[in-house]
Amino acid sequence: MAELSLQHIDKIYDNNVQAVFDFNMEIADGELIVLVGPSGCGKSTTLRMVAGLEDISNGKLLLDGTDITRAPAKDRDMAMVFQNYALYGHMSIYDNMAFSLTLRKEDKNVIHKKVLAAAEILDLTSQLNKKPAQLSGGQRQRVAMGRAIVRSPRVFLFDEPLSNLDAKLRGSTRREILLLHKRLQATLLYVTHDQTEAMTLADRIVCMSMGHVQQIGTPMELYDSPDNIFVAGFIGLPPMNFFDVAFQDGVLKGMGLEIPLSAEEQNRLSDYVGKEITLGVRPEDISEGGPIAIRVTTNENLGMNTLVHGYTGDKKAVSAKLKGWKNYRNGDIMQASFNKKHFFDKETTRAIRKEEQ
Ligand SMILES: Nc1ncnc2c1ncn2[C@@H]1O[C@H](COP(=O)(O)OP(=O)(O)O)[C@@H](O)[C@H]1O
Ligand SMILES: [Mg+2]
Repeated sequence: MAELSLQHIDKIYDNNVQAVFDFNMEIADGELIVLVGPSGCGKSTTLRMVAGLEDISNGKLLLDGTDITRAPAKDRDMAMVFQNYALYGHMSIYDNMAFSLTLRKEDKNVIHKKVLAAAEILDLTSQLNKKPAQLSGGQRQRVAMGRAIVRSPRVFLFDEPLSNLDAKLRGSTRREILLLHKRLQATLLYVTHDQTEAMTLADRIVCMSMGHVQQIGTPMELYDSPDNIFVAGFIGLPPMNFFDVAFQDGVLKGMGLEIPLSAEEQNRLSDYVGKEITLGVRPEDISEGGPIAIRVTTNENLGMNTLVHGYTGDKKAVSAKLKGWKNYRNGDIMQASFNKKHFFDKETTRAIRKEEQ
């Protein structure tokens, strides 16, 4: 078992920079949690506090109900995998993987068994006598994971483990990590700035900005119902389009747009009659045909989809992701509809919802 409870955790560094504010979360045994957000938002700091590599300034950290807020890293039974792999260049792959067990003075036969088992899982059996420099980036990454696996930790902590791999290898290694997690059934905290990694790996995503947790939820929850403009803009690629509009007489007006709303949409906005709001529309929720005129600038055919970029009447940039192959040219007018619409309060940036339950 490895349940983690993070309770009102703050991090204030010695120079008085507060990197994390009131981080609160219950993590279930075996969950794969991805912390995602832009560079500098406090992801690594949070992970390092869980690992015991940074002091927790305020708040509590429990592992299966035991308070480990002040426990030294070596007593936490967690294993961390870093972006740069941190392998020892002069040691063989075998010795790199065995290192932490050798330090712990475990029995040589036990070490041997564990290293071979991890090498088997990670497809490294034929590499064990080599040195790190003789391996590809992807293999080195797997050695770093192997080093964590041999320790059979209660919690795995991964800090941007795929950042040094090229795009193709990132995809395949991501899938390997998913399979590995299924196989080990271990609690795993995974840090990345890449929303695609977060969407594809996570049981639940924690989206952070400037030290604050913005939303915690399944990938689908964050994609379908982002709590605020930050999450809406961060999750999803290409990013959501945003428009400043006013709601009056059943119509949204602004930035060169005039969009009639359905009864359901008007009902959602019933507290905002006569007010300005932020409208969010994902590129994939724009389709051809309809009342909205977009002046096209570029047409990018991706094969299965086409990204059409352009402007509304008021020169507000907008991107649409259409199915299939398109041939719009610079200057064309594309008539379009906005299908699913997200509404946000302009002042609080929070999603406007009707709590009907
Ligand atoms: N050792 C440190 N001392 C002071 N400030 C730090 C230290 N480490 C990180 N920070 C600051 O804390 C904030 C969060 O950093 P970090 O957790 O590394 O972000 P992320 O991993 O999301 O990119 C940043 O503003 C960073 O400059
Ligand atoms: Mg980081």
